[in-house]
Amino acid sequence: ADRAPLVLVSNRGPVTFGEDGSVKRGGGGLVTALTGLASHRDAVWIASAMTDGDAKRSQEAGGQPFTVESPAGGEYQVRFVESDPDAYDRFYNIFANPMLWFIQHYLWDLSNAPDIRRHEVEAFEYGYNVVNEDLAQAVVDEIDGREEPVVMIHDYHLYTLPGLVRRARPDAFLHHFVHIPWTQPDAWRVLPTRIRDEIYEGLLANDIVGFHTQAYRRNFLQCCRDLVGLEVDFDAGVVRNVGGHDVWVRAYPLPIDATATRRVAQSDRTHHFEQELLRRRRDHLILRVDRADLSKNVLRGFSAFDLFLEQHPDFREKVTFVAQLMPSRTDVPEYAEYLERIEALVAVVNHRHGTPDWMPIQLKLRDDLEEAVAAYKHYDVLLVNAMFDGMNLVAKEGPVVNERDGVSVLSENTGAHEELGEFALSVNPFDIQELAASIHAALTMRPDERARRADGLREIITGRNPGDWIDDQLADIRRKRESQPAAP
Ligand code: G6P
Repeated sequence: ADRAPLVLVSNRGPVTFGEDGSVKRGGGGLVTALTGLASHRDAVWIASAMTDGDAKRSQEAGGQPFTVESPAGGEYQVRFVESDPDAYDRFYNIFANPMLWFIQHYLWDLSNAPDIRRHEVEAFEYGYNVVNEDLAQAVVDEIDGREEPVVMIHDYHLYTLPGLVRRARPDAFLHHFVHIPWTQPDAWRVLPTRIRDEIYEGLLANDIVGFHTQAYRRNFLQCCRDLVGLEVDFDAGVVRNVGGHDVWVRAYPLPIDATATRRVAQSDRTHHFEQELLRRRRDHLILRVDRADLSKNVLRGFSAFDLFLEQHPDFREKVTFVAQLMPSRTDVPEYAEYLERIEALVAVVNHRHGTPDWMPIQLKLRDDLEEAVAAYKHYDVLLVNAMFDGMNLVAKEGPVVNERDGVSVLSENTGAHEELGEFALSVNPFDIQELAASIHAALTMRPDERARRADGLREIITGRNPGDWIDDQLADIRRKRESQPAAP
């Protein structure tokens, strides 16, 4: 049973197809995390068909797994699952985003929280749950005939799936990794109690629930105690006696694949972008790379840069802020509106400080890995000022390919900060004054201090890789199996 292929399930798969059959790498931290795993181990990766191209490819494969080579390298066994388009729309554009995403990044406060009406409740019942049922069915199908299968479930899209798989296969080992923060109990009170209960019930059907940090792990345990009324052991990280079994709650901070990032840094396409960047370069380059997501706190980053230029006019025309932002979830009104506000603020700052041959902020609204990596190589300051962020892989990718001992200005509310805080300039992401001061401190830091910090970051980041991350989880799976009484 140990040699049996792993089954992974997530909403977004490793690749996505255009209608012409062209293949693109899936974006976001989750895909980055799992690509290493799925190409190095025998694994079947079950994911939603997110585009018409995905649906077409899935139909060609008769709904069964097929092999695909990712443009980012690596070969995968993928099985796409098609859901009813209305259900999928409710699942992705209403319930997962913004509802769950906002709850788990503290983006609702009580004054702007959504009214819960039929629209939201139905998005859960006839959207979220339908997609979870569809994917659960594919999992059950995939593990049929296998003894003691291991299923690794990923992220906030699939909280009710474990309960469904558990019902069909009591002998399966269910391991759920949550890639985003887990917020404190009160943040969850925005949801109707019944929906909240269903979510916790689903999650607690897992054997292990994993997070990026100790802080999220603690919050989850606290929620199980305060919202669900269960007995928890904070030191051991255990929720006790959930329908007769214990749930282990663990922290597994995700490393990046530094070798893969360095390979991208050496590619021809990256060199092409580098030349273009260097042609336009001023003395200093500040960089941010993010999905255009409210949690990333893009507006406050620009406001801080605005303030910095005002306070330090000697830096005018000497520094450029490159912001590469990938439009994301644009069918969600909150996201579409956020993009508009970003563009408007960039126009204001550029108008206020710019000169005929100097544009202070260069906004690049596209998803291009090589272009981002080219900029990673040459930044002097990497700005990661997310309000809250599960891990943030940009904070890890930048330093391993940067060639200028660039300084990381890093929000204390990112998962990455738990590991990297010591060698970054830590900032409170809400404090614009502090952000502006940190930009200045980073740009004027002594070379030996920059080198010390850059070395420190590189050492921590390259000390572990995604293979280690998975091995830690598989070791816990083995440990938990052995510590439990054998099935009667
Ligand atoms: C975050 C989430 C992932 C998600 C990614 C991209 O990293 O943790 O689950 O896939 O964002 O978002 P998208 O909605 O495009 O899949």
